[in-house]
Amino acid sequence: MSDGGTEGRKPGRRAVLGAAALGGAVAAAALPGTARAAGASGGGASGPGGRLPNPAVIAHRGASGYRPEHTLGAYQFALDMGADVIEQDLVPTKDGHLVCRHENEIGGTTDVADHPEFAARRTTKTVDGAQITGWFTEDFTLAELKTLRATERIPDVRQRNTLYDGRWEVPTFEEVLQWAERQRRGTGRAVWLHVETKHPSYFRSIGLELEKPLARLLRRYGRDKSNSPVFLQSFEPTSVERLAGLVRSPGVVLLGGASSRPWDFVEAGDPRTVADLVTPEGLAWIAGFAKGLGPTLDLIIPKDSTGKLLEPTTLVRDAHDAGLVLHPYTMRNENSFLPLDFRKGTDKAQYGDAFGAFQAYLATGIDGIFTDNPDTGLLARDEFLARG
Ligand code: G3P
Ligand code: CA
Repeated sequence: MSDGGTEGRKPGRRAVLGAAALGGAVAAAALPGTARAAGASGGGASGPGGRLPNPAVIAHRGASGYRPEHTLGAYQFALDMGADVIEQDLVPTKDGHLVCRHENEIGGTTDVADHPEFAARRTTKTVDGAQITGWFTEDFTLAELKTLRATERIPDVRQRNTLYDGRWEVPTFEEVLQWAERQRRGTGRAVWLHVETKHPSYFRSIGLELEKPLARLLRRYGRDKSNSPVFLQSFEPTSVERLAGLVRSPGVVLLGGASSRPWDFVEAGDPRTVADLVTPEGLAWIAGFAKGLGPTLDLIIPKDSTGKLLEPTTLVRDAHDAGLVLHPYTMRNENSFLPLDFRKGTDKAQYGDAFGAFQAYLATGIDGIFTDNPDTGLLARDEFLARG
């Protein structure tokens, strides 16, 4: 397999930082290894994972603002920048291997369309109620998938990333665990991972359950403990619940827009929406099997119809009251992804005032943030903590 390039990690930016204002005691209690005390400094590991800075900068799909997402190149670059946590989204192959892709449809993130031998695999499927046409990981063996190369998902916004098209394979999660272990041996510091099960009900329905194979890998690589340097996330609460029955690694329930319903709820006829899950009752239910929430940023600070930020909700306080940490998603530097308040000009691909947007979100007291631009997030976090 091709590797992530610069293997040796640069030292420096991973010192444990001080705490954000809100929820520190709760978060520290809920999540061993999370450093919340203001002025806390390096070391002080309370478990195999060591202390995680708070607020943590989570590299969303790797440093996906700069490299094609979910490649060892994107993960390595994020780690070299000093990201605190590196995210993987997991889907299965036909022969049951877990691979890192945001979606099981891989037409937009690999060169599969350029492989005539796979032309007949192009098909239309219904996944979580949505009809999708393309090529699907579950129709490929791992050996077949390994003949593909990753490409940039949004070349119109991130033309520079296309420079790296074709450079990296689709990594398996096991390869990522091995890469993380090599990094740990080289630096003495654990690499925190944030691992998402994608479409778990759909995959279960076609005989490709995600949770058990994931739990097996976590056990094999020693990441199955409550203080392991890993978070296990899903938009389907029952997937997080299942994982909690298999391993002790901390779970995080992802939340979409307020009116949305987790797909496992839809299938089970559970009428609750995300709006129900962010009530004190809903949060108490989640806290019964998870340690955290991964809400869309709009649940932290909603926007008006023009895209301008409104007042923050009470979700940060309410989640902390329930003993849950918050890792919202996703901050990106480009205008097209920023709140209207922070856009500069009209070019969707140009950077806006991402630092301003980071400050607005960090000020709410969140415990971490997913970002495609970990370097920007780290500088913003420094600035935020320096302000006290
Ligand atoms: O998992 C956090 C964030 O990545 C959720 O959104 O769609 O990018 O996986 P998505
Ligand atoms: Ca994800």
